[in-house]
Amino acid sequence: MGFNVAIDGPAGAGKSTIAKRLAKELGFVYVDTGAMYRAIGLYMLKNSVDGSDEAAVSEAVKNVEVTLSYDDGVQCVYLNGEDVSGMIRTEEVSALASQISAYQAVREKLLDLQRTMAKNNDVLMDGRDIGTTILPNADVKIYLTASVETRAKRRYDEYIAKGQTCDLAEIEEDIKTRDHNDMTRKISPLKKADDAIEVDSSNMNIDEVVETIKNICKEKM
Ligand code: DC
Repeated sequence: MGFNVAIDGPAGAGKSTIAKRLAKELGFVYVDTGAMYRAIGLYMLKNSVDGSDEAAVSEAVKNVEVTLSYDDGVQCVYLNGEDVSGMIRTEEVSALASQISAYQAVREKLLDLQRTMAKNNDVLMDGRDIGTTILPNADVKIYLTASVETRAKRRYDEYIAKGQTCDLAEIEEDIKTRDHNDMTRKISPLKKADDAIEVDSSNMNIDEVVETIKNICKEKM
């Protein structure tokens, strides 16, 4: 078993930015599990499978193979052999990923892949259910959160920086919907594990969050 760090939390709390930086500093493999759900969401989009139809999604997911590779420490996600790392970063795919991640067949598909990565490597894995379901025995569990307003503004700034047009109020609504979906679904809802340490990043910059979590990890290592 590698040294396992689980970072869970809602959309836009800064999990991936923080986890990426921290993984690099600690020399760990960064596993972005949201990207795996997004890849499956993208498959449904490409194949015109209705995301609200659980039976159809559960059938279609049998044809999906998600794999990861690392290029200079950067995670690339493959959907049936095609690198889709860039294509999964849209609001449309994000909404679909949230929808299909509620289904058992989808979660089961990814469970083994995620656990195997954690078994074979020192990992920093980010997601929604890592500390509660995927790696209940993780060495460190962090629940990273921030206010809805802060998270919406961060997403907004990201899209603008990429040259995409977007609307702040709309993003805020999307985040609320996604929080609701992720926290109320029946299987593996987003929730703080009892033994997770909560870090609220609303009034912290990236360096401060990285430093805080790094110190927690170092204490345990
Ligand atoms: O972190 P993200 O925005 O890339 O995640 C996309 C969606 O995938 C999110 O709405 C919830 C789902 N997800 C999940 O259910 N479990 C995880 N471990 C990671 C993501």
